[in-house]
Amino acid sequence: MRQAGRYLPEYRAVREKVDFLTLTKTPELAAEVTLQPIRRYPLDAAILFSDIMTPVEGMGVRFDFQPGPVVADPIRTPADIDRLRLADPRESVPFVLETIRILRRELPPQVPLIGFAGAPWTLFCYLVEGHGSKTFVKAKAFLFAHPEAARRLLDRLAEAMAAYLRAQAEAGAQALMLFDSWAGLLSPWEFRGFALPAVQKTLGSLQDLNLPLIYFPNQGATLLADAARSGAHVLGVDWRLPLSRAREIAGPALAVQGNLDPAALFAPPQELDRQIRRVLDEAGATPGHVFNLGHGIERHTDPDAVARLVDRVHEWTQGKYGG
Ligand code: CP3
Repeated sequence: MRQAGRYLPEYRAVREKVDFLTLTKTPELAAEVTLQPIRRYPLDAAILFSDIMTPVEGMGVRFDFQPGPVVADPIRTPADIDRLRLADPRESVPFVLETIRILRRELPPQVPLIGFAGAPWTLFCYLVEGHGSKTFVKAKAFLFAHPEAARRLLDRLAEAMAAYLRAQAEAGAQALMLFDSWAGLLSPWEFRGFALPAVQKTLGSLQDLNLPLIYFPNQGATLLADAARSGAHVLGVDWRLPLSRAREIAGPALAVQGNLDPAALFAPPQELDRQIRRVLDEAGATPGHVFNLGHGIERHTDPDAVARLVDRVHEWTQGKYGG
């Protein structure tokens, strides 16, 4: 997660020349920063460089990055929802689709490209609150004050993200991931009543693509049994839950992805190794585990620690699944 980004000097060199929004809207540059970690490390997959906010501009939402998203006119009343349009991604985000086409030409054939979108609830948080927050109280207050309008907004976001992900697949993305960074703010009742139906709508509509669908409910330990019904084939798991437990909850039909604490990359090498080993041991011997961090990589991470991580995972999983 955040495989590309500010921890890499080559990314910072690109960012010295262009701001973040320009970077996401310029296909040659977005493709270049997607490829940077792939050139540096023998990674098994690439993730498109973009942001979860990128497609909402086409819905009529104006925002900036400072460095997190800041929305110009947040949604504060049910009537504000009617401002949001459903756009054709080929018209509203042609630069994302072009980035994907460039990447499919330039990536080594054995490295698949993961496309992604924000999950409806996490986008709801930014659109209603207007900016990042630890608690998103305005977004939650909107849920409680206007439950029907909240469902209408989540439903519209679900439909928009379904179209956006389908367009990414048509342009060449080979797996699709939904980031629900703020799922953990919800009680199980709110998750079932609001966030989950919207995820089910998005992922349900993408089943015919026959691509791996990944759903990451961040801080979702208490939500995982419900998240297992999201329509995803893979559940992303943060580092707070042992993968053995995640696999019990997810059941044998779903794979799990995760879940090294990104802070482990700041630990002494032996301790980093120990934590990598523990993730692999917790994942167990049966197939159905995708090694990943438990959330985004920190900007002050040492690129050499990431190199060590990638090497260790390859070394310790060599031949594990008969591959
Ligand atoms: O993983 C990748 O390499 C793909 C790139 C990617 C970015 N954002 C680039 C980015 C992805 C998958 C995202 C998703 C995203 N964006 C999420 C979901 C994942 C998560 O982290 O929970 C969220 C919540 C956002 C919203 C967002 N964008 C925030 C909160 C920030 C500020 C981050 C910070 O640490 O300051 C951004 C900006 C952003 N998105 C950066 C990058 C590399 C930093 C921008 C810069 O270069 O200045």
